[in-house]
Amino acid sequence: MRQHLLTDHLLGVGTVPTSFKPQIRHEQARQSEPMQARQATPPPRRPAPIPAFRLDEQEAKPKPASMATSVIESLWDRITIPNAGGNESLTVDEKQQLLDQMNLMEVATCKQCDLCRGRTQTVFGEGSATADLMFVGEGPGQNEDLQGRPFVGKAGELLEKMIQAMGFKREQVYIANVVKCRPPNNRTPQLAEVQACGGYLLRQIAIIQPKVIVTLGGPAAQLMLNTQTGITRIRGQWHTFDALKPDGPSIDVMPTFHPAYLLRSYTHDNRKKVWADLQAVLERLGK
Ligand code: URA
Ligand code: SF4
Repeated sequence: MRQHLLTDHLLGVGTVPTSFKPQIRHEQARQSEPMQARQATPPPRRPAPIPAFRLDEQEAKPKPASMATSVIESLWDRITIPNAGGNESLTVDEKQQLLDQMNLMEVATCKQCDLCRGRTQTVFGEGSATADLMFVGEGPGQNEDLQGRPFVGKAGELLEKMIQAMGFKREQVYIANVVKCRPPNNRTPQLAEVQACGGYLLRQIAIIQPKVIVTLGGPAAQLMLNTQTGITRIRGQWHTFDALKPDGPSIDVMPTFHPAYLLRSYTHDNRKKVWADLQAVLERLGK
């Protein structure tokens, strides 16, 4: 069965056309939040913050986000998800093979949108193919474009500190972006570019099947969650990414500020909010 699924993937068949709109479920990121089915008993709250990323321990109390009208209603509808239900049984090597295959055979040479013209190289994403935790940024910046790796500049340094403060090594999580080529002058990716590139991210998610996705910054959150609501209002609350359904699981999403924003606006209040978001993620992962 496993080999069959893998072979199907490698041959590019076995894809199931799906039509969906991600559904947003709003919950408060509270300590008392009941755990999902995959986690029976709530774990004890994580103790003192780690010095490298010291943030106030006080819990954030975000306001509930409003249900927003979407500008990108049709985005996820057009995407074909490869066998979203079957990937759960794949080994780490098999998942890595599928990711490598997509990277080398499709993304590295992709010319599906105009962003291909300004790139030095594509930035596919990296990390553990069986990661429980995935971070999704907006798109490669200058350093990422030069090195071919996500989050390797200043923002990447801060992201790595955040990951370490959560008790993980960078290579234990998966890090990717909504678009794989650097937008000119680091501008926000445009709708057409996201529509052209979004399928790769969705397939990465379908292969890895993380338990939690942390979106970094407004554009990543708005694109993943199909909402126009600003990051200030949606961060700190649990949302659900249902794009893999009905064959695959729904995935918990925690939007937080982009580390580049945090660097620009390194206030106590912002750091406290980001740390509270990451603590909620740890709690949900049972850490
Ligand atoms: N900012 C992003 O959103 N992604 C990167 O990979 C680097 C910076
Ligand atoms: Fe292809 Fe994505 Fe790069 Fe556009 S941004 S050329 S869709 S890899």
